[in-house]
Amino acid sequence: MKADRPLDCLVAGEANADLLIDGIARLEFEKEKLAADMNLVLGGSSSIFAFNLARLGAKVAFAGIVGDDFFGQFVEQRLRWAGVDTRALQRRPNVKTGLTIWCKKGAKRAGITYAGSMALLRSRDVPDAALRTARHLHVGSYFLLTNLHSGAAALFRKAQKLGLTTSLDCNYDPSENWDSGLRGVLQFTDVFFPNEIEALRLTGCRDVERAAGELSKLVRIVAVKLGASGTIVYAQGRRIRVPAPKAHVVDTTGAGDSFDAGFLFCFLKGASVEDAARAGVAAGTRAVGAVGGTAAFE
Ligand SMILES: Nc1ncnc2c1ncn2[C@@H]1O[C@H](COP(=O)(O)OP(=O)(O)O)[C@@H](O)[C@H]1O
Ligand SMILES: [Mg+2]
Repeated sequence: MKADRPLDCLVAGEANADLLIDGIARLEFEKEKLAADMNLVLGGSSSIFAFNLARLGAKVAFAGIVGDDFFGQFVEQRLRWAGVDTRALQRRPNVKTGLTIWCKKGAKRAGITYAGSMALLRSRDVPDAALRTARHLHVGSYFLLTNLHSGAAALFRKAQKLGLTTSLDCNYDPSENWDSGLRGVLQFTDVFFPNEIEALRLTGCRDVERAAGELSKLVRIVAVKLGASGTIVYAQGRRIRVPAPKAHVVDTTGAGDSFDAGFLFCFLKGASVEDAARAGVAAGTRAVGAVGGTAAFE
């Protein structure tokens, strides 16, 4: 991508490993079950986003924290394999890298997360030097990044002052509090990427159009992801609807992060919001066709 700064996107957020266990209908204490398949893959909304954006062709760096352990090494290796600059990825001793175990049976899945290093990132862990060389800052899984909440608005403000555009994907809020300083950050956010449920919870609206309308008062562009229905985007008074083509769905892990990556890849090339929305849906469609969040982009 042509640019006056060497880095297209600096991603700040959580990185972890996902262990996908397939073919188990039900887990029971005191019993051992045999799985049909298992895959260890890159997890974490922010790191999946970084991986897929790099694979689309952007120059990407990742600022985050993992443990100085096997899973931390794995995460770093996967990001590097995709071409992501990991100089701002810290390997912290005495911390365990986060791990999610997904048990899947058909389209259904149940997850257990050990958060470990996932919530540790603070705004001071995002190096100024990296910000100054980037055109864009993206944060994924805002609600999981509890240590970032107090400094996030100032970080986004600084990024915009330095000439970067900014984007944020909040993902689900496990605390069900649905704020944690988010509205303050949205003041300095150019593109906001909630999914339908998140948009409804954030606004208290019952209908997604209204929710998108409310959110668009807070940010320049809001792209609400609607799963099999594609997306609606509100951009400065305009409403853009892009349906999703019917897809053969293998696994929806990382669909939203892939949407964000597709959208931003296009947006950073200077394309129209319509084209970016279409590219988001195309990347989401691509993601659901393979197991895990990144396999479709490898
Ligand atoms: N079941 C599905 N069928 C077809 N496309 C899908 C499906 N689920 C997700 N997608 C694609 O991935 C995009 C993002 O998925 P979505 O589930 O809405 O986001 P999130 O993962 O953040 O909840 C959608 O806009 C769509 O393009
Ligand atoms: Mg999401």
